[in-house]
Amino acid sequence: QELQLNLEQIEKGGYDHFMLKEIYEQPSVIKDTYRGRLLANEGIVRLGGLEDHIKRFINADRIIIVACGTSWHAGLVAEYIFEDLVRVPVEVEYASEFRYRNPIITEKDVVIAISQSGETADTLAAIKLAKEKGAFVYGVCNVVGSTISRETHSGTYTHAGPEIGVASTKAFTTQITVLTMMALRLAKSKGTLSQSDYMLHLRELDMIPAKVEEALQSDENIKEISKVFKDAANFLYLGRGYNFPVALEGALKLKEISYIHAEGYPAAEMKHGPIALIDEQMPVVVIAINNNHYEKVVSNIQEIKSRAGKIIAVVSEGDTTVKEMADYVMEVPVTPETLSPLVTTIPLQLLSYHIAVMLGRDVDQPRNLAKSVTVE
Ligand code: G6P
Repeated sequence: QELQLNLEQIEKGGYDHFMLKEIYEQPSVIKDTYRGRLLANEGIVRLGGLEDHIKRFINADRIIIVACGTSWHAGLVAEYIFEDLVRVPVEVEYASEFRYRNPIITEKDVVIAISQSGETADTLAAIKLAKEKGAFVYGVCNVVGSTISRETHSGTYTHAGPEIGVASTKAFTTQITVLTMMALRLAKSKGTLSQSDYMLHLRELDMIPAKVEEALQSDENIKEISKVFKDAANFLYLGRGYNFPVALEGALKLKEISYIHAEGYPAAEMKHGPIALIDEQMPVVVIAINNNHYEKVVSNIQEIKSRAGKIIAVVSEGDTTVKEMADYVMEVPVTPETLSPLVTTIPLQLLSYHIAVMLGRDVDQPRNLAKSVTVE
């Protein structure tokens, strides 16, 4: 038994939990994901699985993304990226709903299935259905040789390495990395992105690992914030645009491992419901980085403050406006909005991790959850 324990400690690489190790691995695994595929200086993005199918993607009527859980959140981020950069309509579906809805799918549709494990039963069933209807199905999986990677027509692996913690972290950011590379490659062929914007994105993507590394340096500060809020009964997470799915993912992480009820919402929808819940007991995590929606998110923060809610804001380095208004801030490096989920996610992962540890939860194996859901 002692040997077993030591072995596990070695596997955790000096971290207390797999989840923390996996959070900290993100700078290096994101690099692994784009190694040999993204050549920023040469202006090249090349994905083996995609090159032969570029036309199918470009001529598709629409892209339908199917996934579950955290992978579904990566799909939502991809919706923003693909519509923005490739100008193709995208729908993102929970695989479990899609498969039973008698969905409209034709040979002109391209389906992207996202799955860390490559074994999720609902995602697999959605793929089979899409194939029967003649759609082309592309997989974004982490586990090499998994069922979904074999059942799809083509695909790209994320190369995040084994993810042991039940709550997904590095799988999420590497999925977004792959989907971003796909969008850039397709935008290049379709001509929907100017050469300068294309080059800028390649260079910025190449800088993401360093920026994630920088975001991780706020860990001590986030730990302090976690101490303050660990006993809250509810949390609200708000974000807009590219960071709306990040709000959903932040709330999911907290639910999964701390068992605190949390809801993610698009910031502007707050007035249609969640605002009724806000009082001095309610921490609200707001992603308020410097982007297109900044002013609007600032006014959301004012609305929360006037109802005595507590603001924990994710802000861009150098921010002053939100910093003055928020109760606590977590800083992330400045990135183009299109790539921002890759950095804004980091503090939210750490916040949920520290709160769960402080509450004595089983972080790597939370109750009632499974790493891979192979049954309905
Ligand atoms: C389970 C896991 C989640 C994961 C989801 C989808 O619920 O606990 O972390 O996001 O399944 O899994 P997949 O392997 O298809 O990405």
